[in-house]
Amino acid sequence: MFKSSLLRQVSRASTTAVRPPTFAAATRVPSRAFRGAIPLREKKPDKIEDYTTAGEPGASENEGRYSRTDDSFRFEHPDEPNYPPSAPVQGRGGFHFRRTLASFSLEDKVGLVTGGARGLGLVMSQALHLSGADVAIVDLNKEEAEKQAQNLMDEFRKENPGAEHVPKVTAHYADVASPDSVNACIEECIRDHGKIDHLVTSAGFTENFDAISYPHDRIQKLWGVNVDGTYLFACGVARHLLERQVPGSMVFIGSMSGAIVNVPQPQAPYNAAKAAVRHLASSLAVEWAHAHIRVNCISPGYMLTALTKKILDDNPELADKWTSLIPVGKMGKPEDLMGAVTFLLSEASGYVTGAELRVDGGYTVT
Ligand SMILES: NC(=O)c1ccc[n+]([C@@H]2O[C@H](COP(=O)([O-])OP(=O)(O)OC[C@H]3O[C@@H](n4cnc5c(N)ncnc54)[C@H](O)[C@@H]3O)[C@@H](O)[C@H]2O)c1
Repeated sequence: MFKSSLLRQVSRASTTAVRPPTFAAATRVPSRAFRGAIPLREKKPDKIEDYTTAGEPGASENEGRYSRTDDSFRFEHPDEPNYPPSAPVQGRGGFHFRRTLASFSLEDKVGLVTGGARGLGLVMSQALHLSGADVAIVDLNKEEAEKQAQNLMDEFRKENPGAEHVPKVTAHYADVASPDSVNACIEECIRDHGKIDHLVTSAGFTENFDAISYPHDRIQKLWGVNVDGTYLFACGVARHLLERQVPGSMVFIGSMSGAIVNVPQPQAPYNAAKAAVRHLASSLAVEWAHAHIRVNCISPGYMLTALTKKILDDNPELADKWTSLIPVGKMGKPEDLMGAVTFLLSEASGYVTGAELRVDGGYTVT
């Protein structure tokens, strides 16, 4: 395997017009690939060596170009009043008879979505609702959660004029980083809905500071919401499922930042938090597999939400930079997560646990 792939590479290299100087050694390897190879043109060994580790530090103008973060780029999470609310998806479901697998249905289930008042969490709440589940929207911003809970039910009625039953959507306050607040919220949701079968953890935020000057209290807050918030809700819902002795499934919202390092914005603590979220999903999937509780992670790429819109409004040049790094050349929309979250919560993914589903337009495979 290795040998033939080496030969293929050597063969490809032999047909290029200019060969790197290190190639001279490779040409001494007896190989069929070199019979009839195109003769070398004049070489520029010094110049080309600059592009290798043999070059002097700084000799190549590209050194660190793609790995460099930009310290001047700084985005702090805005205060609530400065934040535009986002809307659920309008008029896309419609009255339809298109066949699909019944195993994707979430009918008779109850799903709790943290961070569900806005952005990705709101649209994923809608995906659960349109798939038949009752939904508990949990958010720091209870007022917005209440407004959106009503919007989702109104939208459902519009889209399904003949529906005899509109799945219930409720709104609840929680600060996901606080154990007391999380436990009180889970109790309230169980009181209102009778049970919880599914959890989606979307409460989270990002901000950018270079690592050395990142204020420590802000790092703790970021890890508290993104990591502790995921952990606390997962354990609370798992405890409830274990007590009921029923199966359940959870989806943690990580990020492609848990696997790659975004550029140019410096955001080391966020990247580490999302790596933690991804591995928490795998670890808890193993720990709770015996009880038929599945835990998976969705890692979105750049999605256009109120959060990213604010960053791009403040730094318009970033839109071009970001999309230039995405193979499909476009940012995603929150709706692009609707199918992924429904699949991972439903029986359709019954044998999928501990997995990460990247929804990133191919960003992380390049
Ligand atoms: N938007 C993207 O491009 C993108 C990409 C990858 C991952 N993500 C992740 O997806 C998740 C949702 O992002 P979004 O873009 O929808 O953000 P958003 O800011 O639009 O929505 C986040 C929601 O979480 C709530 N929230 C924040 N802190 C909370 C707390 N302590 N307790 C309870 N609720 C809290 C907010 O009030 C808000 O309603 C986040 O975890 C984010 O890291 C987003």
